[in-house]
Amino acid sequence: MKIFLDTANIEEIRKTRDWGLLDGVTTNPTLAAKELAKGLSFKDLVSQILKETPGPVSIEVVATDYEGMLKQALRISSLGDNAVVKIPMTLPGLKTIKALNEKRIPVNCTLIFNPLQAMFAAKAGAEYVSPFVGRLDDIGEDGMSIIDEIKAIFLNYDIKTKILVASIRNPIHVLRSAIIGADVVTMPFDVISKLTTHPKTDEGLQRFLDDWKKNFGEGDFPL
Ligand code: E4P
Repeated sequence: MKIFLDTANIEEIRKTRDWGLLDGVTTNPTLAAKELAKGLSFKDLVSQILKETPGPVSIEVVATDYEGMLKQALRISSLGDNAVVKIPMTLPGLKTIKALNEKRIPVNCTLIFNPLQAMFAAKAGAEYVSPFVGRLDDIGEDGMSIIDEIKAIFLNYDIKTKILVASIRNPIHVLRSAIIGADVVTMPFDVISKLTTHPKTDEGLQRFLDDWKKNFGEGDFPL
């Protein structure tokens, strides 16, 4: 399963990349706006993210009509070979996905909340579909169940579109995604950090170090 970081923050991207965990990045207008408040232009921010990320980076259009989305998509795609255009799951969005697919421009279809939306986005030619599990949990539904359903549909019809689990809130979302066999999870930096730690790891390491010091003190490593 590929791990994407859901962020527009360069420091978070660098840290995750340097840990060897980063396969790609997803951004959205909310995440970008948070970073733009720090003074960078949108073009510079996107170019920097594309340069620092060793894999696909999803950048979202903000137009909602077909012509507008297509125009913005072409600009996004011209910024780097690893740029993926994020298009919302709407009817003009489907038309845009089809047009971009014909130009071989990869699309991540975002804001998916039921499995049939995912099936239609795949049919229009999306390379990724992004079901938002956390936002479904927020309204009292079991977000992860749509990942199960999308996986079953894609297996039934041998659909190659990748399932990119989005709106991840906690490590359980990631674990269930891996068990179901989702292609990608995109998660915020704090979830990635939580996944790498365990209190028993810290406790165990401390015990090893204490026992070592009892024998060898603080001196040089004796090898
Ligand atoms: C996905 O690509 C979105 O950027 C993201 O996962 C949305 O997550 P949120 O529901 O936590 O805002």
